[in-house]
Amino acid sequence: MKYNIAVIPGDGIGPEVTEQAKKALKAVANEYDHIFLFKEGLMGASAIDKTGNPLPEKTLMLCKKSDAILFGAIGDPKYDNDPTAKVRPEQGLLKLRKTLELFCNVRPVKAYNKLITNSPLKKEVIKGTNIVIYRELTGGIYFGIKELSKDGKVAFDGCSYSVYEIERIAHLAFKEAQNRRKKVTLVDKANVLETSRLWRKTVTEVAKNYPNITLEYLFVDNAAMQLILNPKQFDVILTENLFGDIISDEASVIGGSIGLLASASIGNKNALFEPIHGSFPQAKGKNTANPLASILSAAMLLEHLGLHEEANAIERAVEKSLELGITTKDINKNKAFSTSKVGDFIADFIANQEDSNLNFKNIHIGQSTII
Ligand code: IPM
Ligand code: MN
Repeated sequence: MKYNIAVIPGDGIGPEVTEQAKKALKAVANEYDHIFLFKEGLMGASAIDKTGNPLPEKTLMLCKKSDAILFGAIGDPKYDNDPTAKVRPEQGLLKLRKTLELFCNVRPVKAYNKLITNSPLKKEVIKGTNIVIYRELTGGIYFGIKELSKDGKVAFDGCSYSVYEIERIAHLAFKEAQNRRKKVTLVDKANVLETSRLWRKTVTEVAKNYPNITLEYLFVDNAAMQLILNPKQFDVILTENLFGDIISDEASVIGGSIGLLASASIGNKNALFEPIHGSFPQAKGKNTANPLASILSAAMLLEHLGLHEEANAIERAVEKSLELGITTKDINKNKAFSTSKVGDFIADFIANQEDSNLNFKNIHIGQSTII
């Protein structure tokens, strides 16, 4: 089959990790007889530098017409340290999410056996953890009314949610739970926030359509604690935009490196796939950043296109790279491989699964394993 894939490398380490995800997709295309047409677009700080606009119209059109979007990272310290900046890179991503209505952000978190000692958390606490976070992505305080008083002394961010916005993601979370361990935990702050009370009421109603799923409720402060105290209790976590942003970074500690967490942002017409780590400007251009989150995002992209076997091939390649220790320095400081070497190994494993243990030797002596 032929697919149009919009690629937005973005800022910081975005381009170098996205390159590795493309390598993996090209290997999949070869092995499984598909055609992936990659077309690149600008977004973020790099787009501001070139066009003055964090999301140029051309990129938006490219994304709208695509079968899927592969995105790298966004952000640049020159904007982070300037609160007066009128245009910010992140506005590009937020506008893309909003315009394409990518309302459902899916973030899987699991403890890989091979990396169990990489996490600062005790191994008996995290072993066996397998969670997926369903974060609402186009509503809440991120997109509410924003105000700053004339004298600059008072600021305001409004948070609103509608039943419609809550229902549509809740259905997706319950459907996901049906294929998993049949539990949804709604994370909110219903003891304080009106929006959270609407979430509870609405999600409780939606749950009636899924009688085989257990629904639990947790306040977000307690959830933040439970997530590292006893992460195995969670299956699907359903939550609003800001809480999901925060707890998904927290949950990444379970996996041993934020460099492993992939995500999908799904709408009714379009879908975008990106690693959850940021632009990591300190590592930009150094060929040291972990490409696995981007590569796993490519696997989620294939899954979304219905290419299950292909997605599985990427996942197995990632497991193998962890098993053999072909990983970047965030995972193993003492024996670190470069970003591109990890990408080469993944592509090689997809193309040449039985022989990859042999080719692994070539990686050690610095040869490419790509034929
Ligand atoms: C994320 C990021 C974004 C967010 C930023 C870059 C706007 O942190 O995807 O989690 O806050 O949603
Ligand atoms: Mn975030």
